[in-house]
Amino acid sequence: MPCKCREVKLYKRILESSGITEAFLERNFGNFKPKNQAIANAKAMAIDYVKKFDKVKNSKNNSIAFVGQVGAGKTHLSIAIANELMKRNIGVRYMQYREDITRIKQVAADEESYAREINKYKNATVLLIDDLYKNATYKTRSGYEILNDADKRAMFEIINYRYFKNAPIIISSEYLAEDILSFDEGIGSRIFEMCKGYIMEFKGQELNYRLYKQAL
Ligand SMILES: Nc1ncnc2c1ncn2[C@@H]1O[C@H](COP(=O)(O)OP(=O)(O)O)[C@@H](O)[C@H]1O
Ligand SMILES: [Mg+2]
Repeated sequence: MPCKCREVKLYKRILESSGITEAFLERNFGNFKPKNQAIANAKAMAIDYVKKFDKVKNSKNNSIAFVGQVGAGKTHLSIAIANELMKRNIGVRYMQYREDITRIKQVAADEESYAREINKYKNATVLLIDDLYKNATYKTRSGYEILNDADKRAMFEIINYRYFKNAPIIISSEYLAEDILSFDEGIGSRIFEMCKGYIMEFKGQELNYRLYKQAL
């Protein structure tokens, strides 16, 4: 049995090489100050999830999602959870959706490299997917928003695997739950089943922390 701290160390190294360590480590519950009830509820939900994590981690319902409004603190709360879990030596791999999916898709033609790349996200103890489906959709002429096939293929493989293994995910996305479901119901329904009871939807510009700060 390799030491659990090895996975944590590996993920910290990956973060360092991606140059986002500082911003990552700075985001915690202490410096997250809710400006209204909706945000306070989201923070409470995140703290509650961390508290219950050991109890739920091997169950069907072991994940958490923050979706909707830009700037509401979805990434901040996701990372605050990750930091708390990492302190407890639980490995959380950070997947910056747009960048990491691009790397996965680049090797899609080579089966072996593709599998190796995808396995990183399948096998992490906890997977944090930040900004799910960012830049992964296009509009049809009739105005429908469609998810790219390559993104669909990769995400189905990762999510389906984790779903059957009861492997936790922490998700942030600017899309609402209904959008995520409409892009691909197979992926979406698994995600929201895993996150049942821990889904926070932010709706409304007044929840944008950046705008709020400017207004002060
Ligand atoms: N309630 C809050 N208290 C302190 N900082 C916040 C809060 N909400 C957001 N922020 C900060 O504002 C910025 C935008 O938040 P972020 O989590 O990236 O939003 P989202 O992922 O929902 O777009 C980040 O720098 C974050 O740390
Ligand atoms: Mg974000």
